[in-house]
Amino acid sequence: MNKKFREELVQRAIGAKLNSYSPYSKFRVGAAVLTDDNIIFSGCNVENASYGLAICAERNAIFQAAHAGKRKIVAVAVSSDEKGFITPCGACRQVISEFADGKTEIILITSEGKTKSVQFEKLFPTPPKLEKLKK
Ligand code: THU
Repeated sequence: MNKKFREELVQRAIGAKLNSYSPYSKFRVGAAVLTDDNIIFSGCNVENASYGLAICAERNAIFQAAHAGKRKIVAVAVSSDEKGFITPCGACRQVISEFADGKTEIILITSEGKTKSVQFEKLFPTPPKLEKLKK
């Protein structure tokens, strides 16, 4: 991916983390997604007193993009306050797979701003084949 878009995506993920609503876990996460027409959407995790209703930052960002009519995601960036790299949870991997392909770049960002890229197929090598449900 273009260096300028990559840097912008990273900054948007870090920025989205600032709005994390996570009073229960105190675990702030921000995410940003780049669509195939080069638009960036971001999201943070939003928790609830009924704990199971929390939504992850990644899904929040993807749903923002979907709501704007976007259907193809070419990169996802994820920021947290951890010193190490965190990767999207299983539920988010499934949701990413709806709008991504194996080559989609997943950019992981540490609390100190270090980044690392992983191809989505490494994180989700065997997506369920459910395309026929669309017909
Ligand atoms: N969380 C995310 O938003 N994304 C991840 O990749 C990992 C987990 C959120 C869910 C919950 O609000 C908090 O982090 C602790 O699990």
